[in-house]
Parts: sequence; structure tokens; C-alpha cells
Amino acid sequence: MTTWMVAGNWKMNNTAAEGVALAQEIIAGLPDIAGRGEVVLAPSFTVLRSVYDVIKGSPVTLASQNIFFEDKGAYTGEISAAMLRDAGCTYAIIGHSERRKYFHETDGNVNLKVKKCLAAGLKPIICVGETDEEREAGITEFVVGIQVKKALAGINDLAHVTIAYEPVWAIGTGKNATPVEAEEVHEFIRNILSDVYGSPAVETRILYGGSVTADNFGELIAMKDINGALVGGASLKSGNFLGIISRALERNT
Ligand code: PGA
Repeated sequence: MTTWMVAGNWKMNNTAAEGVALAQEIIAGLPDIAGRGEVVLAPSFTVLRSVYDVIKGSPVTLASQNIFFEDKGAYTGEISAAMLRDAGCTYAIIGHSERRKYFHETDGNVNLKVKKCLAAGLKPIICVGETDEEREAGITEFVVGIQVKKALAGINDLAHVTIAYEPVWAIGTGKNATPVEAEEVHEFIRNILSDVYGSPAVETRILYGGSVTADNFGELIAMKDINGALVGGASLKSGNFLGIISRALERNT
């Protein structure tokens, strides 16, 4: 069975001191997850190294919230995969809907970033999801299908790839998808992966994201194709985040 992942996307929150304190609380309260799942923290770039110093040697790993797809050079304000590896990252979140919306990231950019991650030994967590209007227009699967296929164009192996289905209308709104709504799209994504790669994509983690809390996550993680969560707001308080991890652990029992 695929092990679960619970990843905390801190977005543009927490100074280094605040991030260190939060990471320390999470480590202190973390149950034994060895062999059962993975916990990932995604602080801002300037906070990565400080948080890495707290989590190193623990089962918690580090993700960046973005990367740039070039190796080096005159790209003011950007950060490379090698720099992120250097800061202690194992994962990189790619194509978050806030990046797509506010920073005009396209499926083409996402694909370049995914390729760069894999080439540099970083594991991408690729975000996809439809807007409210797209869901109402009945084109959720069409939109998500294109995002998944374009993100993975030219990628031969899914071994280090995680997908996060995050309906845009559910992010930061308190309106999470119902377990059945989420599962429909997760199953659809898994079927695409199986079709494209020619074998059942049973090992690929597909996370759900969008207003996940300890209260709603138990029913989400019980669904067949939901393998974890990408958590925003509820990852900023250790108690809430640890509560979500507890729900994931209950799935193993
Ligand atoms: P949220 O954010 O949990 O605050 O809805 C999720 C995300 O953007 O990854």
C-alpha cells in the first residue's frame, strides 16, 4: 500500500524564529510514523535552512514552495534546484494555484520545473485543480487532465512524483471538497497516470489540498485514491497539523 504524506505549505508566513518554533513543536509532538507515512514542511526560502537544522535526523523532510527551471545566471529573484538541495530540501511544490494565478505560471513552466526537479534530485509535488467556474461548467476533468498531462510531458518515470489535487475554490476558503467529490478526481488522475504510463499507477501518491483540517481529513484519507494532504492554513499551528497527522495514522490501522 502507498504510504501517506502530510505536507504543510506555510506559504508566506513565519520568520525564521517563528518557523523554528513551529518545527520544534511538530517534532516534539510527532508520533512514530516510521514506515507508515511521511511528514513534509514547506517554509519560505529564507526559512528553509533554519527549519532544516531542526528537522534533520527526524522523519520530517523539507520542501520548497517553488523553484526556477534554469540552473544559474541572470534571473534576479529566482532560486535554483541546486540551491534548494543545498538548503536541505527533499521536495519542491510546483505549480501551486497561487503561483499560477498571481505569478502567471503556465503548464509549460510547470513542466520545465518538474523536469529540473527530477534532474537535480528534488522530488516534485505537482499541484493541479479547477476553479469554481470550471467546476460549475462541468469541465473539472478536462482541466485537471490537461494540467496533469502537460506537467508530466517527457517524464518517463513517476517514481519520485507526487500529485496534489487542490480545487482552487477550496483553498483557504473553508469550503473543502466532499470525500466523494475529491475521490472522483483522484481516481480520474490515477487513471490518467495508468493510461499514460501503461501500468497501474498504484504507488503514486495523490494528495488532496484545500481547507484540510483534523476534523475533515479522517473521511478524506479513508478514500481509496487519497494518499495524504497538502495543508495550508491548518499547518501553521502545531496542534492542528499534528491532528491531521493523527488522522493519517489512523488510516494505517
Ligand atoms: P488551505 O491551503 O489548506 O489553507 O486551503 C492549501 C494549499 O494552498 O496548499
